[in-house]
Amino acid sequence: MKVAIGSDHAGYKIKEDIKDVMDELNIQYEDVGCNCEDSVDYPDYAVPVAEKVANGEVDRGILICGTGIGMSITANKVDGVRCALVHDLFSAKVTRLHNDSNVLAMGERIIGPGVAKEIAKVWLQTEFEGGRHERRVNKMMEVESKA
Ligand code: RB5
Repeated sequence: MKVAIGSDHAGYKIKEDIKDVMDELNIQYEDVGCNCEDSVDYPDYAVPVAEKVANGEVDRGILICGTGIGMSITANKVDGVRCALVHDLFSAKVTRLHNDSNVLAMGERIIGPGVAKEIAKVWLQTEFEGGRHERRVNKMMEVESKA
């Protein structure tokens, strides 16, 4: 699996922590930035990560900002992206099982690094359940073609 990861200044520290998690799990990743805690604009990082997922350059994306909200709203505007904003372990697992989410967003001002790392681990290691959920995901994605 290959993952694209990005953050703004408010998510920079957790981005670095999650890169350590991916190193531990032997998961290949591409860091699109940002590269320090100087103030930047979250869409400048959400869009490249979302586009890499949408065009198949990577399998999944991870985005972190202060709340995760700006990142998730932006990522979900790119066709093909199903970005889940997650701050608990149950949602991390179920959004993979049921929604086949291909981008994970989190907020560094909402949760600490310990919880964020566990969420990333669970989300990266859980496979889509398919079955009745596939029908629902297909219906969700049909909204894009009607837009
Ligand atoms: C940056 O101050 C903050 O607005 C951003 O990280 C994020 O929380 C936006 O949704």
